[in-house]
Amino acid sequence: MGKRRDQAMIVGNWKMHKTRQEALAFVKELRQKLTEPSRAAYLAVPFTYIEPLAKEAEGSPIVIGAQNMNAASEGAFTGEIAGKMLIDVGARFVLIGHSERRNLYGETDEIIRKKIRRAIDDGLPPILCIGETLQEHESGKKEEVLRRQLSACLEGVQKAEANRICVAYEPVWAIGTGRSATAAMAQETQAFCRQVLKDLVGVRASADLPILYGGSVKPENAEELLKQEDVDGLLIGGASLSLASFSEIVNHRG
Ligand code: PGA
Repeated sequence: MGKRRDQAMIVGNWKMHKTRQEALAFVKELRQKLTEPSRAAYLAVPFTYIEPLAKEAEGSPIVIGAQNMNAASEGAFTGEIAGKMLIDVGARFVLIGHSERRNLYGETDEIIRKKIRRAIDDGLPPILCIGETLQEHESGKKEEVLRRQLSACLEGVQKAEANRICVAYEPVWAIGTGRSATAAMAQETQAFCRQVLKDLVGVRASADLPILYGGSVKPENAEELLKQEDVDGLLIGGASLSLASFSEIVNHRG
């Protein structure tokens, strides 16, 4: 059975953008614009906005989450934040291993594996981000890289835990570049990831472990991407900052 397209997970990643006022106004207006109140729309926001936005989103299908967390449950880690603290202020999911965390802040697969484990244990569902660089892409190493990232980052994850995780395939060369993978390319790669996930964790059904695509998703290419069998949702950076673009994608997902 194929996935149910109307259940596609749409996740915005605001990165380090917006003032508190802008963020609150966005969520307030998004609530009004959602045409299907039963379908969730996810937003990964800066830490300091989690609590006010979670309050603003109460009783709506908007789900607020974080963009990162530490692998430890607490301790002497100046400037860091724990999963439990995020839950405490209303976060309901967390992005882990985004390519910007990997490339700019030195997060390795080993660090990411620990964060995934902590997030699962804390009860904060993680979205694990993976993806190959342009150089890896051009030298034909994509599958090798994705297999390595998935197996290293999900090591120790049990089949019964799989439904608490999502994977986001984000080719690094497509993030913020305006150069998205084609729908066919995303489908082929995500079918490969699905097979790897079956081998690793024993799950194949998209409902049990959704695979999102991310990288230059816009209203213009979202629909085509979501038509693909193995694209269960979208992780959207730049286009999630605009209420018009994000609500268009959310409302037209199927
Ligand atoms: P983009 O970012 O949509 O701006 O390419 C995606 C992401 O970084 O998650």
